[in-house]
Amino acid sequence: MDLMEKIVNLTKRRGFIFPGSEIYGGLANSWDYGELGAYLRRNIMNQWWDFFVGRRTDMIEISPAVIMNSKVWEASGHLKEFSDPLVECKECHNRFRQDVNMGMSDIPNIDVNNRMSDIQKLKCPSCGSTNLTKSKTFNLLFKTFLGPTEEKATEVYLRPELAQAMFVDLPQVLQTSRRELPFGIAAQGRVFRNEITPGNFIFRTREFDLMEFEYFVPSKDDKKWFDYWLGEMHRWLEHLGVKKEHLHDKEVPAGERAHYSQRTVDIEYDYPFGRGELYGLANRGDYDLKAHKIDLAAYVIEPTFGLDRSVLVAMLEAYSEEQAPTAEKGETDLRVVMKFPVWLAPFRAAVLPLSKKPELEKIAKPIHEDLRKAGIVADYDETQSIGRRYRRQDEIGTPYCVTVDFDTLKDRAVTVRDRDTMKQERVKIANLRAYLQGLLTKMLFRRIPIS
Ligand code: GAP
Repeated sequence: MDLMEKIVNLTKRRGFIFPGSEIYGGLANSWDYGELGAYLRRNIMNQWWDFFVGRRTDMIEISPAVIMNSKVWEASGHLKEFSDPLVECKECHNRFRQDVNMGMSDIPNIDVNNRMSDIQKLKCPSCGSTNLTKSKTFNLLFKTFLGPTEEKATEVYLRPELAQAMFVDLPQVLQTSRRELPFGIAAQGRVFRNEITPGNFIFRTREFDLMEFEYFVPSKDDKKWFDYWLGEMHRWLEHLGVKKEHLHDKEVPAGERAHYSQRTVDIEYDYPFGRGELYGLANRGDYDLKAHKIDLAAYVIEPTFGLDRSVLVAMLEAYSEEQAPTAEKGETDLRVVMKFPVWLAPFRAAVLPLSKKPELEKIAKPIHEDLRKAGIVADYDETQSIGRRYRRQDEIGTPYCVTVDFDTLKDRAVTVRDRDTMKQERVKIANLRAYLQGLLTKMLFRRIPIS
């Protein structure tokens, strides 16, 4: 099994992520996040907010609407430009994105000239036929209608990015918060794109969450700020637990950049299925400010982060397998551990009574409640052998397991086991909360200082 398959299996089996609408046969490329996945997302969103917004004095957050006046998308260029080249196979009638699925970059100018002789060099990735249509432009905006009548006048679009709201709301933001350059407006939220070929699990889907901000700078300083934000994006990735050697900055050439961008650097990641975009950084110049006739002499630097790709990469990086001793002396087995940074782990602790005996439960349940009340998101598990339960917590990345055993009845102490070292320590119940808070605070709030 390759790493991607292992992650897809683990996330389904343990309730991180599962196929959407499954009891009705599913819906292609739609994924639901279960309890553990939802916690991962929340942790990433909160830390991102903390790092890029909350602890800075130059950043403002907004929470804009999903559906905007259609004139926004006309002015921004999305109605005309937000499209991908689509090719259809005349044999199997599958449709493909010419640039991604058919290696367009091997055949220069195909997008411009769209010559049949060039098209004939391509093969259908599904059935291998060379009997393909010319490529046509397919707009990725999701269209819907506002109200009961489906006509041109009521046509609206689900937002494909958050950025436009930050430009359109700029006059109100300036009026209410009176900022001077440089400053940024940030947002997090769901966006929608009618992708031609979604796939690779949560890598490319038709709805996903973005975390992005528009940073407004004097035009003379745009290069300096572009470099600064590229550096900050890499520091964030380090915090997320991503190894440097898996990341590559790609200077996107002029022909491949989005219509609004003067310069784009994609931060690419080595996924198991190949190298691909993780995040993007664009210098949007004054394209959007001019497009919306906004009276601010500034350039816009835009760092943008896909939340779902962040989750995917965090899981790929955290996954590890090792031979480890079992509860039975002298034996080892395969231990799968999600070595999430502590701040990212869905559960920070788990309370495990050694067996389902009522006298142990009577002590373990109040400990669980006490930890939760203290803000330590803890799991409770009393099924199967203790060895198996440790493995289960390792597999979902829980940093600390708290075991209530028969000695607890006498010494009023529990065992705290560390996920990574598997070392165990005996701690008095009366001191447990403070002990865990001490460990977690050290790890959770070991925040990256702001440059
Ligand atoms: N406002 C700029 C913007 O939206 P983008 O490169 O089109 O830029 C931003 O998208 C980020 O969204 C990407 O870097 C990637 O992380 C994520 N992303 C893009 N398309 C996606 C899709 N179909 N599924 C999941 N994530 C996607």
